[in-house]
Formats: sequence, structure tokens, C-alpha cells
Amino acid sequence: MSVDGYRHPDQSVGPVLLDARTIQNRVHELGAQITRDYQGKVPHLIAILKRSCIFHADLVRSIDLALSMDFIAVGSYGESTKTSGEVRLLKDLDESLDGRDVLLVEDILDTGLTVHYILQNLESRGPRSLRLVTLLSKPSRRQIDVPVDYLGFEIPDRFVVGYGLDYNQRYRNLPDIRILSRAASGA
Ligand code: IMP
Ligand code: MG
Repeated sequence: MSVDGYRHPDQSVGPVLLDARTIQNRVHELGAQITRDYQGKVPHLIAILKRSCIFHADLVRSIDLALSMDFIAVGSYGESTKTSGEVRLLKDLDESLDGRDVLLVEDILDTGLTVHYILQNLESRGPRSLRLVTLLSKPSRRQIDVPVDYLGFEIPDRFVVGYGLDYNQRYRNLPDIRILSRAASGA
């Protein structure tokens, strides 16, 4: 089936790096770990739109605690495939972070520049604690050291899509994480 040239979930997108079951199992492990670590607290899980919305939605459902959530949307200046580190706030949080136990939920740590900026911004709002959860990390790409508290998977330096991750706003709805093929990227 083809809609606007987008075949789903056709192999032509690229080979599967992490299949849906592997992702779900790991997300449940992270949720269980957070549940243990935040006993007696009400964690506040912040998703970065649009990229971490899918991971965030699954993660909050695997945490067995009272919790709250909020959303922030950021954009960057310049080319879509490169990070300048200059972050534009497109949508701010709805709620104050004062005195809260905040978990920032990211899809993938690449250079680390975007999350570094967001963490500094959140820290300035006076949370009681601030930790980072990221589903994926490409350690070989890091330009700035960002401490990761909860990590799903380390992956090699390949461009991946699916489970919230996009290429030009596509493929976010794939249940697997795939390595984008040259054909699908139009290269
Ligand atoms: P950085 O860590 O500031 O370089 O930027 C990380 C952001 O770039 C991520 O949150 C993603 O939105 C995007 N990104 C980095 N690598 C990939 C990838 O392999 N696929 C899709 N998006 C990516
Ligand atoms: Mg993106």
C-alpha cells in the first residue's frame, strides 16, 4: 500500500535495528527501574515534541506510580540533519518545575547539544531533582558530555527512524527502529 509514496512498513525504509518487541521489553525495564527509584515521589515526565512523544507515551504506562507529565517543543536553526546547539523554544511547559522530581525524556542523544541546552533551561526553574532518560544514544557522536541516568540502547553512528524518530517528519509511526536506507532518504 502506498500513500503519497510512503510505503509502510515496507523493507525499503531500511533494515530493522531494533524490533518492536525488543523496544517494548526495554521500555518496560526502564519503567520498572524508574518505579523502584521514585518510590514515595511523584515523578514529572517531560517529553520533547515531537520526537520523544511515542517513547514517553509507552514509558509513562510502564511506570507504576502516581506521576505527572508535561511537554516542551524545540526546533533548531539551520539544516535538519545537523545540530547547531542553538535551540528555539517552540512550546514551553505548561507547569512550574519548582520543587518537582523531573525526568526529561529524549529520543536519541547524538551530539548532546540540544539536551544539554534543555537541561540547563530546566535546571534554572528550580526542580528538586532533574534526571535524563534517553531511549537511544550514539556515543561516538557526542560533542558535549551529558550525564544519562536511564538509557535504552547504545547504537552505532547510523541514521535511524521509527518509534518517534523521523527523517523529514516521516517514519515516526513505524513500530520498529530502522536504519534509513539510501533509497528512502532520497540519496
Ligand atoms: P543532538 O544530540 O543535539 O545532536 O540532537 C539530537 C536530536 O537529533 C534527536 O533528538 C533527534 O531528534 C535528532 N537525531 C539525531 N540522530 C538521529 C537519527 O539517527 N535519526 C533521527 N533523528 C536523529
Ligand atoms: Mg528530528
